[in-house]
Amino acid sequence: MRLDKFISQSLGITRKEAKQLLRQRLINVGGVAVCAPEQHVDDKSNVTFDGRTLQTPGPLYFMLNKPEGYICATKDCRHPTVLDLLDEPRAHTLHPVGRLDLDTTGLVLLSSDGQWSHGITSPKRHKTKRYRAHLAEPLISGVEEKFEKGIMLDGEKKRTLPARLKRITPTEVELCIKEGRYHQVKRMFAAVGNAVTALHREAIGPLNLDHDLAPGDYRTLNSDEVDSLR
Ligand code: URA
Repeated sequence: MRLDKFISQSLGITRKEAKQLLRQRLINVGGVAVCAPEQHVDDKSNVTFDGRTLQTPGPLYFMLNKPEGYICATKDCRHPTVLDLLDEPRAHTLHPVGRLDLDTTGLVLLSSDGQWSHGITSPKRHKTKRYRAHLAEPLISGVEEKFEKGIMLDGEKKRTLPARLKRITPTEVELCIKEGRYHQVKRMFAAVGNAVTALHREAIGPLNLDHDLAPGDYRTLNSDEVDSLR
């Protein structure tokens, strides 16, 4: 890993701050003061600052109950991002695992572990996502079967994978899908002449949104929860 990244992760500071420490010649590698941010180091390199050996801390994993109005991105010039909800020293190392629309609420995972995130979002892995949706019109009969068979979304060439639809009330449903196409849930209901008026993600794979988390709250995932999504 690059030295500036190593220092930034280890001390919980930004890359810019890490580069400043290097410029000030406050970082030693193998006992020698160094200044090149691009220098390659690993866990065996003896990197020290202020007389102490630096180590990269482990990756971070969080679940968040996303409120409306926040965007699933690390930066945005128009809207606050889900990272703005986190009061964490290493928040700048995190990314949202997949996306929910600006107006969708519910379970969002955040991590600094790119490989773990890829395993969850990769289209090849088919991780089930469970949503609760409110509809503009009462659900007509036969939609469950259509979703189970897979439907053609506007502008696409491949049917959706089988999805499980459960009616809760005439205008409230639970939907489990195994893909993450663009605006997929809203487009699936549009394809059967309905519209989603509110959408909430309740679960990803075996991991349910913690009921104790109010909108905007988050917590660390424990190691069993992290492993359950590998
Ligand atoms: N499907 C949608 O249409 N929107 C989301 O935010 C998630 C899934």
